[in-house]
Amino acid sequence: MTLDLEAADYTLSGLRPFPVAVTTIHEGRANGLMSLSAGSGSIVPEAPRVTISLTKYNLTHDLVSASGVFVMHLLAATPEPALDASLKILMGLGGSSGRDGDKLASFDTKPGVTGAPILLDALSYVEGRVVGTLDAEENTIFLADVVGAGRLRDGERLRMGPAWGKLPKDWIEQYEANHEPQLASARRHRGLAK
Ligand SMILES: Cc1cc2nc3c(=O)[nH]c(=O)nc-3n(C[C@H](O)[C@H](O)[C@H](O)COP(=O)(O)O)c2cc1C
Repeated sequence: MTLDLEAADYTLSGLRPFPVAVTTIHEGRANGLMSLSAGSGSIVPEAPRVTISLTKYNLTHDLVSASGVFVMHLLAATPEPALDASLKILMGLGGSSGRDGDKLASFDTKPGVTGAPILLDALSYVEGRVVGTLDAEENTIFLADVVGAGRLRDGERLRMGPAWGKLPKDWIEQYEANHEPQLASARRHRGLAK
């Protein structure tokens, strides 16, 4: 039996429409990335949990693994100035690796209760302390207790669909180039390397 990859992609892609900025810190080294993998990890309203999935290739993966803490931010789609700030965060964190330079230096941050940096231009955030991990070969899925949370401004949540249309072409090319080695690494970790 052959797998219907088109049907799988139709079913799975875009399931999580909100891009989130994930930041962390380990031994004084702060970093962050963009993710579309975040979700709620508990049904208990008074004890919320958050899940994120980080590709092993990414620096943020190693820093969250080592520190056990992260901040997961939603970005704003409105009003207009907040959208501009959101796109700056998206492009600053999601198109290159902290291995090549300090990606957080140009953003206003304050340390959260875990010490991880909170991006002050975000819409809202939860701060997590990791309570469980699933090693999924190409990535690690982190489950964390929410130990801090805040709403930083009014506005609507940014969705990735409309955001793609607002990103400059040269940045999208950079994102795609940045994605290639991650994909190769993921295939290697899964034993799928050609
Ligand atoms: C919209 C979008 C969604 C992404 N989703 C994820 C994700 O769920 N997990 C992940 O590890 N990387 C994801 N990435 C890729 C990282 O953000 C990107 O590779 C980043 O450069 C990694 O940086 P780092 O090496 O400094 O951690 C996404 C990027 C974008 C733009």
